[in-house]
Amino acid sequence: MTTATLSEIASGADELSVWPASTTRLPHGGIAVGGVSLAEIADRFDTPAYVLDEGEVRARCRTYRDAFPDAEVLYAAKAFLSRAMAHRIAEEGLGLDVCSAGELELAVTAGFPPERILLHGNAKSPHDIDTALRLGVGRIVIDSPSEIARLAAAIGPTGHQKVLVRVVPGISAGGHEKIRTGTDGQKFGLSLTDGSAQHAITRILGRPPLELVGLHCHIGSQITDVKPYVCALRRMVGLMARVRDTHGITLPELDMGGGHGIAYRPGEPALDLTTLARRLRAELAASCAAAGLAVPRLAVEPGRAIVGPAGVALYRILAVKRTGEQTFVAVDGGMSDNPRPALYGARYAPRLIGRHSTAEPRTATVVGRHCEAGDILAADVELPGDIHPGDLLAVPAAGAYQQSMASGYNMVGRPPVVAVDDGAARLLVRRETLDDFRRRDIGD
Ligand code: LLP
Repeated sequence: MTTATLSEIASGADELSVWPASTTRLPHGGIAVGGVSLAEIADRFDTPAYVLDEGEVRARCRTYRDAFPDAEVLYAAKAFLSRAMAHRIAEEGLGLDVCSAGELELAVTAGFPPERILLHGNAKSPHDIDTALRLGVGRIVIDSPSEIARLAAAIGPTGHQKVLVRVVPGISAGGHEKIRTGTDGQKFGLSLTDGSAQHAITRILGRPPLELVGLHCHIGSQITDVKPYVCALRRMVGLMARVRDTHGITLPELDMGGGHGIAYRPGEPALDLTTLARRLRAELAASCAAAGLAVPRLAVEPGRAIVGPAGVALYRILAVKRTGEQTFVAVDGGMSDNPRPALYGARYAPRLIGRHSTAEPRTATVVGRHCEAGDILAADVELPGDIHPGDLLAVPAAGAYQQSMASGYNMVGRPPVVAVDDGAARLLVRRETLDDFRRRDIGD
């Protein structure tokens, strides 16, 4: 490992601050993650490829367990799920939040204990519900009034299922309009403001197969401030007190969802988990004491903050085009493996790897290979001026909502996921090939 350059030390900038903690610099501009050279991974598994640092995943699970020792921590599988990921989460003692029969079945068939799984979904299909009941999922979160009778009927009069109610607490937070879910006027949950949440609770209590164990809220995603969580928690405890006053029952669980923000680029803020845990605990104790309520067990559902910083995307440059003032650096992936820039205007910090360049940096836009002008991976980033086809680019903080949101657009095929740990690399998810596309295409 070589030391940081003098200019980096002088500016105080740490360009590797958003990379996994295991990241080291190798001679000649190389970078290793989990003890494995990224250039070697590109050679061995080809590009584009997603690298997952399992040590970073484990460390992040432990950070949660340490910050929230009395709470339940459920990993939100939608951020990224594979059999190996389910194993790591189970080994670290976390629960799992799933939102489809697919995520649920993959986790359970990988050996994840079903009783530690929570099923979400604003529109659960009959298949989702049947799978959840068949596999014995721990809890189901009710998201709409019609679900109450459907679920009770599917369970049958002699059955039993623990449920929570997803409440919309009326708090706006989140990194982009499309991922703000804490206020009315979006599709998730039951409103606290218009009384739908209270009404649903009354109906659930009238259905004996359903055991209401708590309330849930998820106010949004990529939130970097603690305040909205504290405000939401106060409102949720207010509702718990009203449930106690109206129905005479004390709910034992309060699930505050996920949404914990991470830094994608050096210098960006991330949600401070220790502060979050401390402030939630204090607010919970104070609000419950004020309402004369027994303190419920807290749950949190982080997805991005566990797996996002553990992932690095690798691309090879296919073309460099200078058009007027602009330089376009086109890589062998794009919006089919990372739709986040196109969907949310997400910004990333790609970096040249595999060779050392002394060329002056130049502003460039990293684009993908797809047939759309909006296929931009990283606009206006600084890359060495001598960047050329054949070079490798690596994008940190790529572990969440990229591979899991990848599509089959242009039949490029979804990239593989390669785990690195302790100096060894192994394939977790293989590359999607033309054969996979052909096999699904059964018409003539
Ligand atoms: N719990 C519930 C009920 C959720 O809906 C979500 C995310 C989470 C937990 C986990 O949130 P996280 O800690 O990962 O922020 N595709 C978007 C993010 C969508 C989040 C959807 N729900 C993105 O790429 O930013």
